[in-house]
Amino acid sequence: MINSKQGKVYLVGAGPGDPELLTVKGKRLIQSCDALLYDSLVPIEILKLVSKSCRCEFVGKRRGHHSLPQSKINAVLLEMSKTYSSIVRLKGGDPFLFGRGAEEAQYLQKYGVSVEIVPGITAGIAVPAYFGIPVTHRLAGSSVTFVTGHEGIDKRRPSVNWKALATASDGLVIYMGLHNLQYIIDELIAGGLDPEISAAVMQQGTIVGQRLIKSPLHLICKEVKKEQFTSPSIVMIGAAIEYQVASCAPSPAEVTMPILF
Ligand SMILES: C[S@@+](CC[C@H](N)C(=O)[O-])C[C@H]1O[C@@H](n2cnc3c(N)ncnc32)[C@H](O)[C@@H]1O
Repeated sequence: MINSKQGKVYLVGAGPGDPELLTVKGKRLIQSCDALLYDSLVPIEILKLVSKSCRCEFVGKRRGHHSLPQSKINAVLLEMSKTYSSIVRLKGGDPFLFGRGAEEAQYLQKYGVSVEIVPGITAGIAVPAYFGIPVTHRLAGSSVTFVTGHEGIDKRRPSVNWKALATASDGLVIYMGLHNLQYIIDELIAGGLDPEISAAVMQQGTIVGQRLIKSPLHLICKEVKKEQFTSPSIVMIGAAIEYQVASCAPSPAEVTMPILF
């Protein structure tokens, strides 16, 4: 049951980095909220939209440190909902895509807090687009799978069947895939994926400094290591990469991130 005396929490997607990819609805809510909780991949330019009286708290990863545990984030949100009328929980990309948005919504609803989701543009589509790479193509990719390459230390996330994915989907867009990349590639090839298929790794997309490596799948891990790619990076695998139209890529945005990686 919703307790109407409590504040409302908006789970807002900030988009992948370029502040101009924030939705109109997200911007309106950020400008009018009384409290805001944000993660590491949210640029300062978006945070500057808040009013002077807004209470802002950072709960993301700092260099060399983990983000605040999920239970603590939930507790802060609940506490905020008792004090403020409009609270924005701002997350990179889309809150329901590898963003724990549903976990936070369910927790708050258990305590009678009203929650609304405001979708954001996800990195898995926008980052390839900022290099002119389509994630599907009529001639080369009729299906695409968004998948996490990070299984989680607590093993609470269901493990990914990479061998089965090798032939189930024309394209793969892998979030948080850098750390396990060689294992993922080995599993995909063992599952029947052509080692020569196109692959791409895109670091810090949509903002100045973004980098791209393209190569046949079996060689890409070596390239990534040589070029010292780091997080945040999106890995894409699939023939649609060959239909890149670099000339249509937008210019990456000049931004300041609250945390250096
Ligand atoms: C915890 S997930 C959050 C995904 C987010 N909810 C979304 O919809 O984009 C974080 C991962 O998203 C990817 N990511 C987010 N922003 C990115 C960017 N600007 N460039 C490259 N990868 C990015 C990376 O794989 C990163 O490790």
